[in-house]
Amino acid sequence: MKPKQLVLLASGSGSNVENIAKYFETASNITIATVLTNKRDAKVIDRCNRLKINCLYFNKQAFSESDCILNLLKSINPDLIVLAGFLWKIPEKLILAFPNKIINIHPALLPKYGGKGMYGNHVHEAVKESKDAQTGITIHYVTANYDEGAIIHQATTKILPEDKVEQIAGKVHQLEYEHFPKVIEGLLSKEN
Ligand code: GAR
Repeated sequence: MKPKQLVLLASGSGSNVENIAKYFETASNITIATVLTNKRDAKVIDRCNRLKINCLYFNKQAFSESDCILNLLKSINPDLIVLAGFLWKIPEKLILAFPNKIINIHPALLPKYGGKGMYGNHVHEAVKESKDAQTGITIHYVTANYDEGAIIHQATTKILPEDKVEQIAGKVHQLEYEHFPKVIEGLLSKEN
């Protein structure tokens, strides 16, 4: 049987991409068709080179002002499109073309700390500022609005009053590494 095709989108470091790639390295039924990035100098490109995974850079024109990425994705026919630290809004035409096949990970417990501008350390700074006793991750379906789709999975971690933003970020990343590949695997196993 043809392996399930995974497409990952990332804008930055790509540590989640690397973690997901390593998780599925020995899986014969799941393959990473390609990683897509919107940042020419993103660290994720180096990681993909090292891991020998296909990685393509695209710009706004290709993503939302033309059908270039839409057509590329249609040709791949992915079973799941995963936003792993991807910071651009997904154009409606992609959402319509791949219903319930695009998921995102958000580094907080949505619906808190979501929306435009809420990414990476901005989220952890807001969480710290609010003196919340816990934070976590949310894996959810992607809609045309930031961080609003149906929630698939959440996991929490405690925050100590003395935790700095970097420590909160570290705890959240650990949760991401633990849960994200398993959730992806679960979704792909439900697929026909
Ligand atoms: C992750 O923590 C992810 O949850 C977050 O960006 C980080 C990417 O880290 N995503 C968002 O903030 C989306 N709003 P990575 O590049 O090391 O995987």
